Amino acid sequence: METIKIGIIGHGFMGHEHETMLTQMEGYRVVGISDIDPKQLEDVKEGIKRYASNEELFEDPEVQVVLIAANNNQHHKLVLQAARAGKDIICEKPVAMNVQELDDMVRVVEECGVNFTVHHQRRFDPDFRTMKDVYDSGTLGKVYSVKSALYGFNGNMHDWHVYLAEGGGMLFDWGVHLLDQLLYMMPGAKLLSVYADVRNVINFEVDDYFKILMRFDNDVTAEVELGTYFLSDKMHDKWFERHWIMGGDKGTAYADGFDPEGKIVRTTRLLTNVGGQRTMTAAGPTRSFGPPSEGTLVTEPLTKAGTCHEDYFRNYREAYDGQTDFLVKISETRRVLALMEAVRKSAETKESVRFEWE
Ligand SMILES: NC(=O)c1ccc[n+]([C@@H]2O[C@H](COP(=O)([O-])OP(=O)(O)OC[C@H]3O[C@@H](n4cnc5c(N)ncnc54)[C@H](O)[C@@H]3O)[C@@H](O)[C@H]2O)c1
Repeated sequence: METIKIGIIGHGFMGHEHETMLTQMEGYRVVGISDIDPKQLEDVKEGIKRYASNEELFEDPEVQVVLIAANNNQHHKLVLQAARAGKDIICEKPVAMNVQELDDMVRVVEECGVNFTVHHQRRFDPDFRTMKDVYDSGTLGKVYSVKSALYGFNGNMHDWHVYLAEGGGMLFDWGVHLLDQLLYMMPGAKLLSVYADVRNVINFEVDDYFKILMRFDNDVTAEVELGTYFLSDKMHDKWFERHWIMGGDKGTAYADGFDPEGKIVRTTRLLTNVGGQRTMTAAGPTRSFGPPSEGTLVTEPLTKAGTCHEDYFRNYREAYDGQTDFLVKISETRRVLALMEAVRKSAETKESVRFEWE
């Protein structure tokens, strides 16, 4: 297997992550790194070149693939430059600030005949994969509802992420992952409409909370909710992490945490027309709600997916050799960007938006 020689642009948080992962993975060599801020290159690992400019990286014949890990508003310009230098490209998410920018990138990439894909490694997050496996297995019967949530505690905005013009805000940061996961979970489903609330609760310029409702033609309603300042003291329940609930007519599945803990839950009383049982709750007697009586619920453990982020680069390595397809197709990232535009429009108009696939 030939080694893929990588040049990384941007040595911030994600640039460091890529440098660490790719220097440890078989089939890759990080040739060099560039950054507009020379200070960011001070801790580049030994044996890796520090370029004085992006141009120097583009001109290095050793570099086959450019991995773009700079601020979101830089992606368009850098993808165009990399393509024109004849380099294959992996771009960080969100691939572009909008659909128009992406279409322009695709035009140039096609003219130059280089490979182009996006780093959506969260398709391999164990929490997501565990729930995708439940969905794919059909064990819940007809799925009608999927909820995916992520909560944090301190408003969690920093550096350029607080500026709109640089592509800041949580919709661009995590929203793009959460929406990509949902569309990837149900690849054949057509999205019909979107209703969204996007807010800056404690940040001045950029969004730090969103709730997005999506109706699909497979009759699933999906909900994505993210709050960076959505508080609870239930730390033991992994509150400040990921949450999933999937409802089907043969059971419900839930999972909490990045390292997911959850179950499939079914009831023994499903559609048995027995006399209603009164349960006393603090709000008075009820026959439909309150705690179920002993033995009414049966649970099965979730089979935790054993995937990890290295799997993204394992797929890239094989696809680069033509043994398989690149996992992340540009057409899929375009759909996510179009969805995010619909989300912003719905939040602005406070109305649902019919979603048109293009
Ligand atoms: N896939 C993921 O899980 C994930 C996680 C975090 C960030 N990201 C993405 O990675 C990218 C970088 O985010 P970050 O959080 O690492 O930001 P960061 O601020 O930590 O790092 C960005 C670096 O890029 C440099 N830079 C900016 N413009 C440049 C240019 N034109 N040429 C060269 N260098 C330039 C900056 O000086 C900085 O060192 C963003 O697109 C972000 O969305 C992806």
